[in-house]
Amino acid sequence: MKILGIESSCDETAAAVVEDGRKVLSNIIATSLEEHKLYGGVVPEIASRRHAESISGVVKEALEQAGCTMDDIDAIAVTYAPGLIGALLVGVNFAKGLALATDTPLVPVHHIRGHIASNYISGDVEPPFLCLIVSGGHSHIVAVKSYTEFEIIGKTRDDAAGEALDKAGRTMGLEYPGGVSIDRLSPKGDENKYAFPKPKVTGSPYDFSFSGLKTSVINTVHNAEQKGEDIDIPSLAASFQRGVVECLITNLEKAAKDYGYSKIVIAGGVSANSKLRSEAEKLCRKNKWKLYLPELKYCGDNAAMIAAQGYYEFIQNNTAVENLNAYATMPIDKSYKSN
Ligand code: KG4
Ligand code: ZN
Repeated sequence: MKILGIESSCDETAAAVVEDGRKVLSNIIATSLEEHKLYGGVVPEIASRRHAESISGVVKEALEQAGCTMDDIDAIAVTYAPGLIGALLVGVNFAKGLALATDTPLVPVHHIRGHIASNYISGDVEPPFLCLIVSGGHSHIVAVKSYTEFEIIGKTRDDAAGEALDKAGRTMGLEYPGGVSIDRLSPKGDENKYAFPKPKVTGSPYDFSFSGLKTSVINTVHNAEQKGEDIDIPSLAASFQRGVVECLITNLEKAAKDYGYSKIVIAGGVSANSKLRSEAEKLCRKNKWKLYLPELKYCGDNAAMIAAQGYYEFIQNNTAVENLNAYATMPIDKSYKSN
């Protein structure tokens, strides 16, 4: 079964063809990242306009590279939530039009479920497993019970891990996205040079909080500026990265032990982070757990992961009706049902 995936939730316009949820036949991405760098973050209207300009060409190229026409496509999977609403609407409306014109079933896909599915196209992992999802908008620990059943075990109370890295990067004067810059710069610094308070989260032991860490970085930079002291930016970046990764790994370990999971999956844009990848490997080696990480090319936003998840939603009949809408927020454990 061949699924055409379409993704436009943030600044990547992407289309891909994936066979049976696992085999990537094409994966095309056009990004407006360079333009957003000028503003230090994604400008929603610019992202929406670039999607509108690129989407037809990107979908055409994805079909061509896969050696397909729409006649070969069994279903169109499209990201319908969560994300920037104007950006999502471009993909959703394009997919609806294409589905109607070619009489092809339409499958709405939750973006974060798609990130989890980036592991299905990277390796042979199958649910059930425990997944740490870390992106620009989400930090979750989720029990993936089946391809379409999810239980949220932990989540962030404030900033997502990627958001905290991006904001800290901006404070340090690094290029957007800060997460990528911090990862690149950290090997040049000493990760033990700056100490940050360990965030205390009352209530759930699996929840995260990153805003305190972020404020500490801002205070460190401002205090040094006021005193006219130099800041060792590579060491500040490395120390902050260590602080974020420690929080993620600590809660992941606790959740896996308490819920009895020995199959661990990492997903989302921050899963590309080298410190997180190496600490997750250490954690799983220590506990003799099996670890799955997405290939680097599938960590960030792409449509192959949407087509992969779309396959599993399609075989569960999670198809859309004609009035499918886009949503800026949507819990991962809520399935779109056509009736
Ligand atoms: O999943 P994604 O591409 O978009 C969302 O769904 O949010 O994640 C983007 C986030 C950004 O915050 C970016 O800084 C972060 O992923 N990111 C990284 C790395 N690559 C991307 N953070 C740390 N290290 C990286 N190598
Ligand atoms: Zn994403």
